[in-house]
Amino acid sequence: MPDQLIIFDTTLRDGEQSPGASMTKEEKLRIARQLERLKVDVIEAGFAASSNGDFEAVQAIAQSIKDSTVCSLARANDRDISRAAQALASAERARIHTFIATSALHMEKKLRMTPEQVLEQARLSVRFARNLCADIEFSPEDGYRSDPDFLCRVLEAVIAEGATTINVPDTVGYAVPELYGHFIRQLRERVPNSDRAIWSVHCHNDLGMAVANSLAGVKIGGARQVECTINGLGERAGNCALEEVVMAVRTRRDYFGLDVNIDTRHIVPASRMVSQTTGFVVQPNKAVVGANAFAHASGIHQDGVLKARDTYEIMRAEDVGWSANKIVLGKLSGRNAFKQRLQDLGVQLESESEVNAAFARFKELADRKSEIFDEDILALVIAEDTAA
Ligand code: KIV
Ligand code: ZN
Repeated sequence: MPDQLIIFDTTLRDGEQSPGASMTKEEKLRIARQLERLKVDVIEAGFAASSNGDFEAVQAIAQSIKDSTVCSLARANDRDISRAAQALASAERARIHTFIATSALHMEKKLRMTPEQVLEQARLSVRFARNLCADIEFSPEDGYRSDPDFLCRVLEAVIAEGATTINVPDTVGYAVPELYGHFIRQLRERVPNSDRAIWSVHCHNDLGMAVANSLAGVKIGGARQVECTINGLGERAGNCALEEVVMAVRTRRDYFGLDVNIDTRHIVPASRMVSQTTGFVVQPNKAVVGANAFAHASGIHQDGVLKARDTYEIMRAEDVGWSANKIVLGKLSGRNAFKQRLQDLGVQLESESEVNAAFARFKELADRKSEIFDEDILALVIAEDTAA
């Protein structure tokens, strides 16, 4: 049995921090149900103390979701933690995720606290949370830019207080894969009680490396939880994309030696739902969920895929929720793809020379029109039939 990688989805919390992506309680509940269908292990439903609306959304999700752990974010203070616990009271499985910044920059300029004060607050908050909930995640915000010696002291202290998951955020997307992987590894090796917690990665995409960094945190660092969002939604340039990290681990099980619980057939519907709800369009060439992710346009590729799909496909479109892969007919298409489309449309031409003639007309049209639809092909064949 390969080791399991825990998938922690934060579309409804960090994803919602994307400017313009705020969601109503009903919208969040609908997405949470889709995440449950997807079988994500943990759903971060919101930040209960941030507003009454978010409190109610976390509460509604906690009442409705049965198969995933439901989590609320809370700053490291008693009020936030109590609100999170209240909102999660009816959850089948609840997690409180508490955080405080540990980088010198954040402690001095934002929190205006000394490192010793931050250490004490982290310790007391986890102690307080642990009395309300058995499953406690702690995040040192801006962890990747924090001094490792200080970070080790904080993490050792919160594990001793009962934190069950340690999440190390690259809050501003500054990391590069190898360094982030070694950073996680170094923390795990240096914190004396590190094996009492599950280690988690949380990467932002400011330099376009959130997925790569997360995977390095897993492979090099030994993390066993990845925090991610559908479509990579999130603050600024977003978070690690769930569909990418999940399909990377599944497709390259040979390399990662891990598996995920995810029912990948629900990925595309989840992507559509999040995109429609937030109004954030998915770029066509986006991995896994983009409209072109399984579309073939060049004649050579089309010919290959028609003969054997794995010539140009490393995953099955159907396995991630598409109904099929796509052969896009255009000026680069070859005769084989054209002939296959005629067959799919139920068009039977009398002879190979008729196919050749129709293919020549198709090429002529394709030089004038960037994509040829089924209607164009039917019109092309029918027009010739009527003329003859
Ligand atoms: O990016 C970040 O640091 C966060 C924490 C609150 C976990 O989202
Ligand atoms: Zn974040």
